[in-house]
Amino acid sequence: MNYIQILKKGENFLKKSKIKNPCLDTELILSKVVNKKREEILLNNNKLKNTDIIKFKNYLLRRFQKEPMAYILGYKYFWKDKFLINKSVLIPRPDTEIVIEEALKYLPIDKSKKILDVGTGSGCIIVSLLKERPKCVATAVDISKKAINVAKTNAKLHQLENKINFINIDIDKHKSYNYDLIISNPPYINSIELNRLDDDIKFHEPMLALSGGSNGLSKIKKVIIKSKKLLKINGKLIFEIGYKQKDHCLKILNENGFYINKISRDLSGKDRCIVSTKLQ
Ligand SMILES: C[S@@+](CC[C@H](N)C(=O)[O-])C[C@H]1O[C@@H](n2cnc3c(N)ncnc32)[C@H](O)[C@@H]1O
Repeated sequence: MNYIQILKKGENFLKKSKIKNPCLDTELILSKVVNKKREEILLNNNKLKNTDIIKFKNYLLRRFQKEPMAYILGYKYFWKDKFLINKSVLIPRPDTEIVIEEALKYLPIDKSKKILDVGTGSGCIIVSLLKERPKCVATAVDISKKAINVAKTNAKLHQLENKINFINIDIDKHKSYNYDLIISNPPYINSIELNRLDDDIKFHEPMLALSGGSNGLSKIKKVIIKSKKLLKINGKLIFEIGYKQKDHCLKILNENGFYINKISRDLSGKDRCIVSTKLQ
């Protein structure tokens, strides 16, 4: 079988499962299998080896079963870089880049600031920030041991393994303090919305990274209360929220003595990130 034949078969197969971009996904899978760029496979109609046909079918079946492309390919682009990922971590989302944009405003390029990333997952936020601000040092925590391993791999890939201290711990138990900045994309989906998520997310991404308890706010609350203890006075807490959570989050922040600097919206105009300051 050659490239054109297998691409057509693959596309038709994925269409049966109502995959949104069957043509693109099939091309990306073939380019992974034969280890060539997508443009190359479209320009050269080579014959496939039997072992590659088997690999192709396996990946295609995973996609047919709605596994996200990022897990099948093993990577996702975020901010300015490529991050390795697997099913132990949330797939980095473009919305989360707002946290980076806001955090950079409080990190002068020539200063060494101490940063904490709560729920680091793939490490995409903290690695991106440290690449932009090489004088800073950071700690990144996650309750998932497997996620910490992925984050360490990404830090190594981007030559930052000596700048980030990764700790596998529940944020509740983290003891070190005096941070200038705490950033977080906590799990914030409530139980009703969890059930309504697309199958790609619901059945493949880690629940630990998605579920914010029955009202979606339990992990956010935990991060705010803990940040009050861990931040320096005037330190910043910058975190991502679900688009209907602004009012609840502002209330929790106010109750815990934070000043609200800004609420940022995502590209679709939804409230997505809060910038706040620990006052005392
Ligand atoms: C929404 S994911 C964010 C991952 C990554 N920062 C990103 O933006 O792509 C939330 C992460 O928080 C971690 N997490 C959940 N509860 C936690 C807790 N109590 N302490 C530390 N990390 C926690 C999860 O394992 C998951 O990796």
